[in-house]
Amino acid sequence: MKTGIIDLITKNRSYRRFFQDVEVPYDALESMIEAARLSPSGANRQPLKYIICQDGKGKTGREIFDCLVWAAYLKDWDGPVEGERPAAYVVVLGDTAIASNFGIDAGLSIQSLLLGAAEKSLGGCIIQSVKRDELAKVLDVSAGLEILYVIALGKPVERVVIEQLPADGDFKYWRDEQHVHHVPKRALKDLIIAEK
Ligand SMILES: Cc1cc2nc3c(=O)[nH]c(=O)nc-3n(C[C@H](O)[C@H](O)[C@H](O)COP(=O)(O)O)c2cc1C
Repeated sequence: MKTGIIDLITKNRSYRRFFQDVEVPYDALESMIEAARLSPSGANRQPLKYIICQDGKGKTGREIFDCLVWAAYLKDWDGPVEGERPAAYVVVLGDTAIASNFGIDAGLSIQSLLLGAAEKSLGGCIIQSVKRDELAKVLDVSAGLEILYVIALGKPVERVVIEQLPADGDFKYWRDEQHVHHVPKRALKDLIIAEK
């Protein structure tokens, strides 16, 4: 059995279907952003800012949802249906008054945030495919802030399993008839390319 950090990282899959009615408490969202705050930052500039939308079902939550593109590989799926949509969102922004590019800060902070979610038996999905101009209007984002990613959050309703990459090397995730989401991961032996 996996323990410790590997267990938590294994639990931290990309979840795209949620119990929409199960609220994510504000404290939980704040503590996820605390995990992001404590993450590494290039030159320690800490240029990231966050917008919380706790009410995924409210007007703003619905407007955020309309700005997102889900699971591009699942061609016959348009994203979560009503009732399985995210219960909350965290929008990650870059403050251009602090930095002109955001390097890997967002990736590191978001992973911390999502591990914080996994620790609370919540889950989420990083969304990069965002209609940014529309979302900036919805959220009334000021000119010096760049929308980087949207993190969809909630209590996952779906099962996500990791599996080996098939023989043909296809890395696309897929869903089976039971709606279980399968994520092929390359084998460790194929990643460690040398021992010198
Ligand atoms: C930088 C980045 C951008 C992503 N953007 C999207 C997105 O726009 N829409 C989406 O449904 N999933 C998105 N994902 C989720 C990936 O599809 C997911 O991480 C991948 O399929 C592997 O699954 P796993 O996170 O469970 O390991 C993104 C992930 C990353 C790291």
